[in-house]
Amino acid sequence: MGKIRVLSTQLANQIAAGEVVDRPFSVVKELVENSLDAGATHIHVEVKKGGMNLLKVRDDGAGIPSDEIILALNRHSTSKVYDLEDLNSIRTLGFRGEALSSIASVSQLTLISRHSESAWLAKSEGCDTNVSLRPAAHPKGTTVEVRELFYNTPARRKFLRSEATEYNNISSCIKRLALSRFDVKFALTNNDRLRLNLDAASCYLNELERLRVICGNTFVDNAIYLDNQSAKLRVKGWISSPTFSRGQPDLQYLYVNGRYVKDKTISYAIRQAYQDVLYKGRHPAFVLYLETDLKDVDVNVHPTKHEVRFRDSKIIHRFVYTAINSAIAKEYLKNDNFRDTEVNHVSGHQLKKGNMSTGEMFPSHRFFQRADRNIGGQKSEIVALKSGSAEFSNDQKISNIADTDGCEPIPPLGFAVAQLRYAYILAENSTGLVVVDSHAAHERIIYEELKRTYEEQGLVSQPLLVPQGVLVSETEADLGERLKEELKKLGLIFDRTSSESLLVREIPAILRGSDTEQLLRDILADVIQNDISNRISSEIHLILATMACHGSVRANRKLTLSEMNALLRQMEETERINQCNHGRPTWTEFPIEDIDKYFMRGR
Ligand SMILES: Nc1ncnc2c1ncn2[C@@H]1O[C@H](COP(=O)(O)OP(=O)(O)OP(=O)(O)O)[C@@H](O)[C@H]1O
Ligand SMILES: [Mg+2]
Repeated sequence: MGKIRVLSTQLANQIAAGEVVDRPFSVVKELVENSLDAGATHIHVEVKKGGMNLLKVRDDGAGIPSDEIILALNRHSTSKVYDLEDLNSIRTLGFRGEALSSIASVSQLTLISRHSESAWLAKSEGCDTNVSLRPAAHPKGTTVEVRELFYNTPARRKFLRSEATEYNNISSCIKRLALSRFDVKFALTNNDRLRLNLDAASCYLNELERLRVICGNTFVDNAIYLDNQSAKLRVKGWISSPTFSRGQPDLQYLYVNGRYVKDKTISYAIRQAYQDVLYKGRHPAFVLYLETDLKDVDVNVHPTKHEVRFRDSKIIHRFVYTAINSAIAKEYLKNDNFRDTEVNHVSGHQLKKGNMSTGEMFPSHRFFQRADRNIGGQKSEIVALKSGSAEFSNDQKISNIADTDGCEPIPPLGFAVAQLRYAYILAENSTGLVVVDSHAAHERIIYEELKRTYEEQGLVSQPLLVPQGVLVSETEADLGERLKEELKKLGLIFDRTSSESLLVREIPAILRGSDTEQLLRDILADVIQNDISNRISSEIHLILATMACHGSVRANRKLTLSEMNALLRQMEETERINQCNHGRPTWTEFPIEDIDKYFMRGR
């Protein structure tokens, strides 16, 4: 090792720059954050060659007083934090006083700013020691121009990706910032072409417009708005309805006190809230804003400020989880909504929501889209209806909506008219035809019931007339023995009878009639597969979901009309009914107008 020496300012800044600005988009992030901190209402970002040639951010903020401009380009100079007290309750996006100096050390930077009467220009070339100041023309506000980024750090320049990729990163970065401040107008120009122009939003509808541009129409059309507040916390924003999900966790925006962050605690809370309504491997989409007391969150934990640390992450977790969980549970088929609706005028919109606007997950599955494709073809899918597998029952009165005299209320999911292939219930409601996957729907009903009773009083067990012996592997028997007490709380009571057998004596009353042997096997398999033998009490939902699957109407069972109607009524009373525990849809509907259109009938 050589002698210890103090680094030159230039080198120290370049090293710091390595942490703060590693790509063109991080320069943009820092500059736009400065503009926001300066109270700008209009920010224009100009990019050339993916930011490698030029990055320019212009704002109409407060500007920098002429005698502070050169200081602003110095390391550790900031107007945002003066003492430790300030650092503990940071309101601004910046606070370290190193962004401008870092950027200046790896580029040719020009800063023009007007704070009061006149504007001044400072130019620096990769070094902050010879900065000179001269008068310039500029309206109130600041423009920072960054040219030839990383020209003096060839290694970093080599790591840059293609112009298009760097530009996309910049564009995504502006979108993230734009979602944090609806009251600010943002514009982005790339190679002299205006690519993004987001007007300041003055009302909720304007906010939705911005949301549409950034997150897409499908997200907005399938989003649930929530706003929950407690004494010290507030979470608001939009989350995707479970019918809209993504293959990647790429449409997820989280802001803590106005700052875009990635946070494990909150991500986990969100994942948990969605866990039994999303199909395996799918990800929810959200734009969420958490507001906390500034003192309860430390923002100074990551060089690019992309992470925060909460003083009490358990409270945050519980708060976010509860807010999202209840927003999902209250989504559509909400009984109150239906009761408020006038008889016979069940809101089509309400039902449409459940109408499998499944976004990218179940694209274009709509009946008539498929049927249309078959017109003129040899085989129509509708033939299946004719083929005699629909189960019509003669001995029961079929309620027909057309027969009702307008006084009898029509329930949201209508009245059952038939069973198709012993798997689907066909019902008629005021919108048209309803198709229900009876197994999926029943599974959700039982699951919600199991969760509720478990939380309220624990599951009641019912002795089996004849105890059921179950042969298992020795590992499974060991596991069963270990989990015996936990499973007893769930109403599943058994003993180990030999090294490889268990004897089930009682099962949860709600599951009577189900295959006891398979139930126990599946539960043990769940615990092994999910590796939850040590934390089964916190993962009870997994076990309950498996139980629900066993307790639900298996496909291929003939149902009477009254059984079908009972199921429809139960569905209307059940939270999260639009998906089964595995995230599959439980029902869909085909409006009568679409059916008329298909048969070329005007009404
Ligand atoms: N666009 C701007 N308008 C007004 N003042 C600005 C602007 N950009 C920078 N400044 C001033 O220059 C100072 C230094 O900016 P810089 O970005 O280097 O540090 P910071 O924002 O204080 O902290 P951080 O390094 O965390 O971003 C700021 O504190 C602010 O006073
Ligand atoms: Mg800054």
